[in-house]
Amino acid sequence: MENNFDVIIIGSGPGGYVCAIRSAQLGLKTACVESRNTLGGTCLNIGCIPSKSLLHSSEMYHKAQKEFNNVGIEVENIKLNLTKMMNNKKKSVLTLTKGIEFLFKKNKVTLLKGQGIVSEKNTVSITDEKGKKSSYKAKNIVIATGSFPTSLPGIKIDEKIIVSSTGALSFEKIPKKLVVIGGGYIGLELSSVWSRLGSDVTVIEFLDHIIPGMDKDISAEFLKILKQQGINFQLESKVTAVNTANGKAIVDFINNKTNKKEKIECDKVLVAVGRKPNIGNDITKLGIKLDDKNKIQVNEKFMTSVENIYAIGDVINKGPMLAHKAEDEGIAVAEIINGQAGHVNYNVIPSVIYTSPEVAMVGKTEEEIKKENIKYKIGKFPFLANSRAKVNSEKEGFVKIIVDEKTDKVLGVSIISNLAGTMIAELALAMEFGASAEDIARTCHAHPTHSEAVKEAALAVDKRPIHF
Ligand code: NAI
Repeated sequence: MENNFDVIIIGSGPGGYVCAIRSAQLGLKTACVESRNTLGGTCLNIGCIPSKSLLHSSEMYHKAQKEFNNVGIEVENIKLNLTKMMNNKKKSVLTLTKGIEFLFKKNKVTLLKGQGIVSEKNTVSITDEKGKKSSYKAKNIVIATGSFPTSLPGIKIDEKIIVSSTGALSFEKIPKKLVVIGGGYIGLELSSVWSRLGSDVTVIEFLDHIIPGMDKDISAEFLKILKQQGINFQLESKVTAVNTANGKAIVDFINNKTNKKEKIECDKVLVAVGRKPNIGNDITKLGIKLDDKNKIQVNEKFMTSVENIYAIGDVINKGPMLAHKAEDEGIAVAEIINGQAGHVNYNVIPSVIYTSPEVAMVGKTEEEIKKENIKYKIGKFPFLANSRAKVNSEKEGFVKIIVDEKTDKVLGVSIISNLAGTMIAELALAMEFGASAEDIARTCHAHPTHSEAVKEAALAVDKRPIHF
């Protein structure tokens, strides 16, 4: 086999595989190293994709139970077949991971199977499943090795009773009681899944609010909605220990304000307190510099402190740990290696929580804008006043647009809506083009759609919404 490449990418997650395809499209002789049997990294195998499959299936189950009857669909004896639901999830994952294999073949990306390390400046060494070692030369190396779940001191994830997102995506039985540590993206998406399927879920969050990093207005409204859906919350609480015995767990926690100590006995504990960059010893041995959070330091061209070794995605000290951020970096770095001007605009990276309703934001939160002493105006529009959302009984949530008071330029947008994840793309595009609220307000939005709420929120910036 060929062992001289223009680019070798280590890792085939959304950052790595996209970088490989773009590099090959540009005519670079490209290889991608992957240790898993299937391509796509955490996102496709044990992250975004399987979680979205379960979110979708559990939402359908919930609707069939609670909402069908309201619109005249009478279904009796609705039964859940968890094995079938899990098999459907596996099928989706397999189809998509196979899809990347197909794209690699189509674009002539060489797949190198095994665990890859950067053994020298221009050498990647690979150990395959059977322990066989091989070395490949590359003019450029891209590290795209992603991240893995972290735990709390003294709490060991066994993926049986105390699980990470990986375990919580594959429970064989519905846990009667589930405790989720961390009210962030993973904690809330998986709380939604298991709560809809019948678990009694309690989220223990260290801070006094959920989804840190999102607009406080949104976080408060989202908390209210999730509580109405039956999820319990213990905010401002620190988990001090998790012990297991007889197939159960006992979670000890203490309220940060009152110092009151409490415990919950449960069947499963999901630890969702963040992820750590996946960085091996090879990186530091080569002299690649890390920051204080152990993330790889890269310059504006995604180059590490060692020439011609680049890094993208969850392992670097730039932007949020999100699949689409990694994808954009993958494209940018391929173009940079090819001598072009690849670029990622970190000010306009949308983030989405795929619950029901969904939560999405792009740009700055109100708190960030305040901190920067920027004078701003807000336009808000509730879905309660949006005709399509009303027809669909999707009346929860709102659109919140924040603009610069002087220039009317959009600085940030947050949305809670069943379609928030899709709707936020319009706002990301608007922000990329430097749009003002007036630009959005004067853009014709189809009727009746949820997106009209975006136009109305833009009108509300100037206190002239039509339907509210
Ligand atoms: P996260 O950073 O979103 O949330 C972690 C939460 O745990 C925070 O609310 C934090 O305050 C809390 N926490 C930390 N220590 C705690 C403690 N000792 N006790 C109680 N609470 C504690 O992390 P998460 O949910 O694990 O997700 C990891 C990464 O994966 C994130 O960077 C996220 O961007 C990404 N992700 C994105 C998704 C999406 O785009 N929809 C879905 C899932 C993950």
